[in-house]
Amino acid sequence: MTTTFITGANKGLGRETARRLVEAGHTVLLGARDPQAGRRAAEEVGARFVQVDVTDEASVAAAAADVAAHEGAVDVLVNNAGVSGAHVDVPDLSADDVAAVLDVNLLGVVRTTRAFLPLLRRSADPVVINVASGLGSTRLTHDPSRIESTVVAPAYTASKAALIMLTTQYAKALPDVRVNVVDPGYTATDLNGHSGPQTVTEGTDAVVRLATEGPGHGSGRFLDRDGEIGWS
Ligand SMILES: NC(=O)c1ccc[n+]([C@@H]2O[C@H](COP(=O)([O-])OP(=O)(O)OC[C@H]3O[C@@H](n4cnc5c(N)ncnc54)[C@H](OP(=O)(O)O)[C@@H]3O)[C@@H](O)[C@H]2O)c1
Repeated sequence: MTTTFITGANKGLGRETARRLVEAGHTVLLGARDPQAGRRAAEEVGARFVQVDVTDEASVAAAAADVAAHEGAVDVLVNNAGVSGAHVDVPDLSADDVAAVLDVNLLGVVRTTRAFLPLLRRSADPVVINVASGLGSTRLTHDPSRIESTVVAPAYTASKAALIMLTTQYAKALPDVRVNVVDPGYTATDLNGHSGPQTVTEGTDAVVRLATEGPGHGSGRFLDRDGEIGWS
């Protein structure tokens, strides 16, 4: 049985990932910062709710301790929790505005991965999946045929670019763990006022593939639902 912990899974892509992985037979631990929303989503998809605010070191440690006490190990960690940040014009964009986005989208992944690594190392096939974005890709944001090239969102794009690099660095540093990163694609969720053309099911294809592909696949890859995204 595969045990999978997902952050930010009370709604949107995280909730759909939880639903699909329960359907695929995983034991899913549905992480959410709001207990009411988390418990409701967990009940709906057949997962176990675990409270976690990825900006709070103590909350992340408590989540890992809870999972250690109940499941004892984790096979797949999905670092999904993310925020878009305040929409602020660049002349007014403050370091605090950017720090708030990095705190969730980048440092949240550092905190969660660090706390869960001992549990992942109890698995025969440990997997970390980071949910980044095409908006963090230098290649896609410079390709005029791509929607990513039309977006100006400095804090969000910088946080996802850093997350992509963090992933490839962790992949090199942790040869015993498969660490990969996905671009879900532009998907209708609360993050973008439901403007994205994809459904949450389409938006979770890449993460579900990485969570279910099994041993023997590579680390340090960047995938969308169509396969590998090139680096340049
Ligand atoms: N939708 C897209 O088009 C798209 C495209 C590319 C990448 N992504 C990425 O996909 C991931 C999921 O986004 P989504 O589109 O599903 O957005 P969403 O519906 O807004 O969901 C975001 C989730 O992250 C949680 N979260 C935010 N701050 C948190 C914190 N400090 N601790 C724990 N959880 C926290 C939210 O919890 P609350 O409900 O408590 O706020 C929510 O569950 C994000 O990393 C996003 O950047 C989305």
